[in-house]
Amino acid sequence: MSDNKSYILGIESSCDDTGAAVIANGRVLSNVVATQEIHREYGGVVPELASRAHQQNIVPVVHQALRIANIDKNQLSAIAFTRGPGLMGSLLVGTSFAKSLALGLQLPLIEVNHMQAHILAHFIKAESQSAPSFPFLAMTISGGHTQIVKVTDYFDMEVIGETLDDAVGEAFDKSAKLLGLPYPGGPLLDKYAQQGDSKRFAFPKPKVSPLDFSFSGLKTAVLYFIEKETKANPNFVAENINDICASIQFTIVDYLMDKLKNAVEATGITQVAIGGGVSANSGVRNAIKEAQEGYGWTTYIPKFEYCTDNAAMIAMVGQLKYERNDFSSQAIAATPRMKF
Ligand code: KG4
Ligand code: ZN
Repeated sequence: MSDNKSYILGIESSCDDTGAAVIANGRVLSNVVATQEIHREYGGVVPELASRAHQQNIVPVVHQALRIANIDKNQLSAIAFTRGPGLMGSLLVGTSFAKSLALGLQLPLIEVNHMQAHILAHFIKAESQSAPSFPFLAMTISGGHTQIVKVTDYFDMEVIGETLDDAVGEAFDKSAKLLGLPYPGGPLLDKYAQQGDSKRFAFPKPKVSPLDFSFSGLKTAVLYFIEKETKANPNFVAENINDICASIQFTIVDYLMDKLKNAVEATGITQVAIGGGVSANSGVRNAIKEAQEGYGWTTYIPKFEYCTDNAAMIAMVGQLKYERNDFSSQAIAATPRMKF
């Protein structure tokens, strides 16, 4: 290496996005994501198709990440990869690739927990993004996860609440599907919601323990509601799409905020960070911003590209572990149900 920088390559392949990124001293030099469009046709992620697409994408995505970062692979300091949690076939592609590359280049290999990475994405150095100080609460909300985590230090995290069934992103996507919107429907539901009356229709908020979540009941409530209303008026959904979306979104956001309030109360921690694809939701973003004023919390929302699945967050964790000499052996295996 000609300078003192450590160049960490991050590889992400836990679900349906193939990502590669290079980070140097906390700054992202490149962050490439190939999103797999094929799943749209099926209304959800098809695991077998996802792993095949990862295989096709991984070499060009890594090449592109190195090219954009303007470095040669021989300048890399370490290879970080998502070990889990995620889809087994998808994880295997990134894991095998990372292991082979590390072996070939004789570089240290660093395993990364995808859920920890969503949280540590807050430590990426970027304009309009500031890092929380410890301890803080992190709510990770995406298509695969819904958790509230107490973060005491970089690698000292405790899940204090999580979903008992569907993830919140699934609640958005499944509700959108029932309304006839294409997959993934979350962003579209959000778009319609912004023009609707959120108090027009009421949906129940499932009762579980104070810090846990349940979303499967909401999906059923939306289904019964639509069935009932379309019996009386076959054009009900088309005529009321904005108000229906606004009411569903209001219910979900209110529920997320209830849980966050419970977590703040239970821990006494008022620094609150969010992450994951659902952090892009306008209702969530507004509610989090209002909580800053309303409840006196200090809130953190990462830049959009570090909210959805990305490799920059994997490289970020890679860098933190590299500084701690926390390396993995070549015997490491992908782990679909990985815990902290
Ligand atoms: O983090 P992510 O990109 O991938 C997973 O790890 O799942 O999150 C994707 C999820 C999908 O369920 C998608 O519908 C949801 O995030 N999402 C949204 C919005 N943007 C993405 N949900 C509601 N409103 C949005 N604006
Ligand atoms: Zn994720």
